[in-house]
Amino acid sequence: MEQIQNVTVLNHPLIKTNLAVLRDKNSDCELFNLALKRISYALFYEASKYLPTETIKVQTPIIDTENEVIKKDIDVIIAPVLRAGLVFSDIAQWLLPFSHVHHLGMYRNEETLEPIWYYNKMKGKFKNLDKTYVFILDPMLATGNSGYDAVHNFVKQGIDEKNIVFISLICAPEGIKKLTGAYKNLKIITAQVDLKLNERGYIVPGLGDAGDRIFNTL
Ligand code: URA
Repeated sequence: MEQIQNVTVLNHPLIKTNLAVLRDKNSDCELFNLALKRISYALFYEASKYLPTETIKVQTPIIDTENEVIKKDIDVIIAPVLRAGLVFSDIAQWLLPFSHVHHLGMYRNEETLEPIWYYNKMKGKFKNLDKTYVFILDPMLATGNSGYDAVHNFVKQGIDEKNIVFISLICAPEGIKKLTGAYKNLKIITAQVDLKLNERGYIVPGLGDAGDRIFNTL
């Protein structure tokens, strides 16, 4: 694992092996989703290591003992950026069953590369701001324009950026620069940082359009 400031890049042979499947243009939808799910677990375990814990008493069949668990008085928000972010959502919810899922509906204007919002029903829902932890899910951090909007959406409601983790499968350096420049305390967890963006805002070498490959709409 490599960590540069707040960006953690998982560096593991299993992840690299699955990334090769994802990059391969001949991998079909079933294979693509399988490889993505396998990597999702690793990303999510790494991202959730920042959740606060408390000690509880547990009786084993052998003895009374103590064990650390995730604190019960926190609110965890899982925020998949539609539509590709949905691929991480069920695993995130399965690992953190007490979490709340807030969908962030945005698509990219292919000319300006700016996000256009079409769904966001989150307003006024956070009671416990300093104990709220957010996981934003988006497999491709490309220009960072929609990523910026997604983070801003929580920060403007009073959630501390240090409690926000952006989970992405592949990042472009341009997207990382945009997010880390704007949010110094935001954490980014990714499987790989690629070379660059092309003129259409796609990540190079990347894997193409993640949403199309996840949902078989090529
Ligand atoms: N979104 C994608 O799905 N792929 C890219 O390369 C960039 C943005």
